[in-house]
Amino acid sequence: MEVVEAVCAACHRTGMNGAPKIGNQKAWAKVASQGLTSLTEVALKGLRKMPPHGGNPDLTDTEIARAIIYMVNRSGGHWIEPISKAAPPAQRSGGQVVQMHCAKCHQTGVGGAPRIGDRAAWLPRLKQGFEVAARSAIQGHGSMPSRGGVADLTDSEVRAAIVYMINGT
Ligand code: HEC
Ligand code: HEC
Repeated sequence: MEVVEAVCAACHRTGMNGAPKIGNQKAWAKVASQGLTSLTEVALKGLRKMPPHGGNPDLTDTEIARAIIYMVNRSGGHWIEPISKAAPPAQRSGGQVVQMHCAKCHQTGVGGAPRIGDRAAWLPRLKQGFEVAARSAIQGHGSMPSRGGVADLTDSEVRAAIVYMINGT
């Protein structure tokens, strides 16, 4: 991991000044018991001979956290990387979401679902504001399943789909 090699290893490879040495299971087990959140705080602030940010103020909180996870895991730990290195999937457009997931009910009005582009049917549902309707769709309401029954739709994809259905385009 580059941050560790470039910054942390200077002390944590050799154990200089009492830095817990990478690979020293006993030392790291004790350190790791504090948990990632508080360790990250300590590493950002510094502790005795451990300089704030490991001495490199350009490092972000996330980089520090990942450096700690790396050192813990090189030292007998099994911490899971909480931050995905993969880019998040691109947001699907309202039109795509509707075609794939909402149209099967909202096209024809199954179970009383307001139809796509039928503004007269949508307007009363928007009386309390768009956010209320959006929350209702996210949580589910009557025979409207939560997120249209698609657990991996993000809140913003659900909102985009609603906008698309109200406008009908
Ligand atoms: C200049 C030397 C030095 C560098 C560079 C350094 N450390 Fe440290 N680190 C220490 C020392 C010394 C300690 C032990 C501090 C003590 O307990 O007094 C320590 C302790 C720690 C601890 C344990 C804190 C605790 O509460 O026990 C963590 C976590 C840590 N370092 C993370 C990092 C990370 C991440 C980096 C790289 C971004 C880094 N360190 C770079 C010297 C360094
Ligand atoms: C299984 C059929 C079904 C699917 C799939 C479906 N809906 Fe619905 N939807 C309904 C029904 C039925 C209602 C009317 C609920 C009521 O008023 O009881 C509704 C109502 C709504 C409302 C109005 C607010 C509310 O809860 O009354 C919104 C907004 C909405 N749907 C959004 C969506 C979106 C966005 C999708 C696709 C991600 C979707 N729906 C997929 C059946 C469905």
